[in-house]
Amino acid sequence: MTRHFLVDTDLSPAEQAEVLDLALELKNSPYSRGTYSGEGAGRKTVAVIFDKTSTRTRVSFATGIADLGGVPLIMGAGESQLGHKESVTDTAMVLERMVATIVWRTYAQADLEEMAASSTVPVINALSDDYHPCQLLADLMTIREHKGELKGLTMTYLGDAANNMANSYLLAGVTAGMHVRIAGPEGYLPEPRIVDAAKERAAGTGGSVLITTDPAEALQGADVVATDTWVSMGQEIEDQEVKSARFALFRSYAVDSAAMARAAPDAVVLHCLPAYRGYEIAADVIDGPQSAVWDEAENRLHAQKALMVWLMERS
Ligand code: CP
Ligand code: NVA
Repeated sequence: MTRHFLVDTDLSPAEQAEVLDLALELKNSPYSRGTYSGEGAGRKTVAVIFDKTSTRTRVSFATGIADLGGVPLIMGAGESQLGHKESVTDTAMVLERMVATIVWRTYAQADLEEMAASSTVPVINALSDDYHPCQLLADLMTIREHKGELKGLTMTYLGDAANNMANSYLLAGVTAGMHVRIAGPEGYLPEPRIVDAAKERAAGTGGSVLITTDPAEALQGADVVATDTWVSMGQEIEDQEVKSARFALFRSYAVDSAAMARAAPDAVVLHCLPAYRGYEIAADVIDGPQSAVWDEAENRLHAQKALMVWLMERS
């Protein structure tokens, strides 16, 4: 059966741990796996499609595929027939006859599901409106490097708690047995279906879920503090008044020194980047000693290589 990675919970807790173990192994020996090269490897090309802009995801997939002996075929928005002239299903039916893996950054999660449903090669979600599961593999890997363990740690996310990162922190965090706390303003909290899925997963891993509008409650003693932009791709606001009103709503959820004073003294700070200093995160926090954001960015490479190897071995 072909395995896909469309949402964090597509990996069971044991499988997530296997991918993270492999990611740490590949960080130490980057060229030890020839998944897309060598005798018996078969197809070499990996399609990497971007309907939204990207720096980290684009570079980490391109370099990671090359490290595994493959050839990245990067397609930007509007460069293929997908989305305007041709359906997702018809595109999948063509790609799956030529490439080894499909990586896609797009808007609707339903489109990724449609691609996967018609593909006999693995499909990887490189960010959708709903989830950013590849980012969470890198984040969990970074936490393991800094803290040793994941299970039992408290991970707090502040800010736009209705976005893809909040959803993925929730689902990937509880999969790892973490206590995940999500804080954002009323109207910007995760949808009940995602909270329910996280609670169900947490019940089997010893993790837990707290959703609150109170940033202080979420931060108390946290081992990991994470945030993300207050305006995600696809939500850009032209009207300055509307934009200011949105920022005012999020201001008390900023990760600044006052917020960090509530977390554990040795808490690590994560941000998937790109970051907006002075908005969701203060410059002295992201550029300060508790920040692990550059390790986190580098780990996109190692975690995604591990994911591609793992999916290819099981598909
Ligand atoms: N964190 C992340 O996915 O970055 P890019 O949007 O630059 O790929
Ligand atoms: N929530 C952000 C993440 C960027 C990596 C966005 O979707 O724009």
